[in-house]
Amino acid sequence: MSNTQQMVKELVEKHGRERTNLMAILQGVVDQQNHLDDQAIIEIAREMDLSAAQVYGTASFYTFLDIKPRGEYVIRLCRTITCDMKGKREILHTLENLLKVNIGETTPDNKFTLLETNCLGWCHKGPAMLINNKAYTELTPEKVKEIITEIKHKS
Ligand code: FES
Repeated sequence: MSNTQQMVKELVEKHGRERTNLMAILQGVVDQQNHLDDQAIIEIAREMDLSAAQVYGTASFYTFLDIKPRGEYVIRLCRTITCDMKGKREILHTLENLLKVNIGETTPDNKFTLLETNCLGWCHKGPAMLINNKAYTELTPEKVKEIITEIKHKS
């Protein structure tokens, strides 16, 4: 039995198999491994006799349950057409090279997560990205290097 199977089994036994306990079980998984992954969702579905889609639906409805582990700084680069035409690809390559991660991944030190997003409303100043809640616009590879270096030196 895998660790995930064992953990889910214990949580289901502790809280009970009724659907009303699903939230407590999901929260238990997040407490233990900091996030929910597909394997945990499938195991919960199996143990509770639900479909994976039902479990996933509940999990993603409650946004405080992070489906994926996220870094301290979540970078969301706009992938929509105006930013794309203004050089988003080059910005993406710069970020990937600097952080050594691909889209959707988190750096091993859990500092940065790199994501793409739809239009941020800064099209006239694209390419644009958000880092946590702060917008950065008119990006160039040099500007991106400065921003990332500054954040790295913060802590
Ligand atoms: S297209 Fe990128 S901010 Fe609008």
